[in-house]
Amino acid sequence: MAAAIHAEGLVKTFGGVRALDGVDLDVPEGTVLGLLGPNGAGKTTTVRVLTTLLRPDSGRAMVAGIDVLAHPNEVRRSIGLSGQFAAVDEYLTGRENLRMVGRLYQMPSRAAKARADELLERFNLADAADRPAKTYSGGMRRRLDLAAALVVRPPVMFMDEPTTGLDPRNRQQLWEVIKELVAGGTTLLLTTQYLEEADHLAHDIAVVDHGRVIARGTSDQLKARTGGERVEVVVHDAELLPTAAEVMNGFAKAAATVETHTRRITAPVTGGAKLLAEVIRELDTRGIEIDDIGLRRPTLDDVFLSLTGHAADEAARPEEAAK
Ligand SMILES: Nc1ncnc2c1ncn2[C@@H]1O[C@H](COP(=O)(O)OP(=O)(O)O)[C@@H](O)[C@H]1O
Ligand SMILES: [Mg+2]
Repeated sequence: MAAAIHAEGLVKTFGGVRALDGVDLDVPEGTVLGLLGPNGAGKTTTVRVLTTLLRPDSGRAMVAGIDVLAHPNEVRRSIGLSGQFAAVDEYLTGRENLRMVGRLYQMPSRAAKARADELLERFNLADAADRPAKTYSGGMRRRLDLAAALVVRPPVMFMDEPTTGLDPRNRQQLWEVIKELVAGGTTLLLTTQYLEEADHLAHDIAVVDHGRVIARGTSDQLKARTGGERVEVVVHDAELLPTAAEVMNGFAKAAATVETHTRRITAPVTGGAKLLAEVIRELDTRGIEIDDIGLRRPTLDDVFLSLTGHAADEAARPEEAAK
């Protein structure tokens, strides 16, 4: 299958900061690549290079078969971009914003109107359609920005953290819109800090950290790599933490992590509920009282911890990025 997006050795430095340190990517036509990484990993910089907004120091990139550095204008005609920070005209209404995009792309006026109405409906903006965008809440702006990126149905789409700052209902709706878009043949590169989002939408995930792709694969492959599942135990008595950790390490695929102040031990395991029962029995045999115990799938933090040796929350938390 032809690659709709191809990047090779992208390097970009800002002063002393190496934002991109040799990024390689391939996104086959008609698929979704999720670029997953914490704040500062280089996601936005990658998107800006691929969408012709920023020239890399070195490396090359092709989008829709066109050389990004040699023919940026042609690339721009083949792509849609929804940025991390909403780029809507504050003084126009939601409806006017969408119609304007259609007209910019030379859609016939009737078609631009119809598409605007359809998108306003899809993104729950119909009631606010005739209010200036400056009266919109943050979530509404975000939705309008995404709608604007979808006015023309480009063969290749880029979405930079499309659902950061959206409430769960709107996030769900956007996921549905994205799925339809991809079912229609669009290739999508999507950046996110949420493993769950990559899970729902991406065929392939590339994990980025410090300007490099440090792992790639399907969501299941990445989770398997991080050790399948997690058992979490909250021990009642802090003094028994070391003993409990020893028990947990007996079941774990990799070293358990101990959080002293919450008396919580987390261990990567494979084996599901049956193993959970064994852990409970063993802790009981050793006389360790527990306040809470549970089995969960790996989170983005787990993927990061296992891939990079540092937790994702050493960077800013997602909630802070949404502000
Ligand atoms: N225009 C810029 N000037 C200086 N530093 C920048 C600029 N853009 C990005 N950076 C730095 O490059 C790194 C990667 O940033 P970015 O691509 O925005 O990460 P992400 O989108 O994954 O959060 C960060 O350390 C960031 O501070
Ligand atoms: Mg970013």
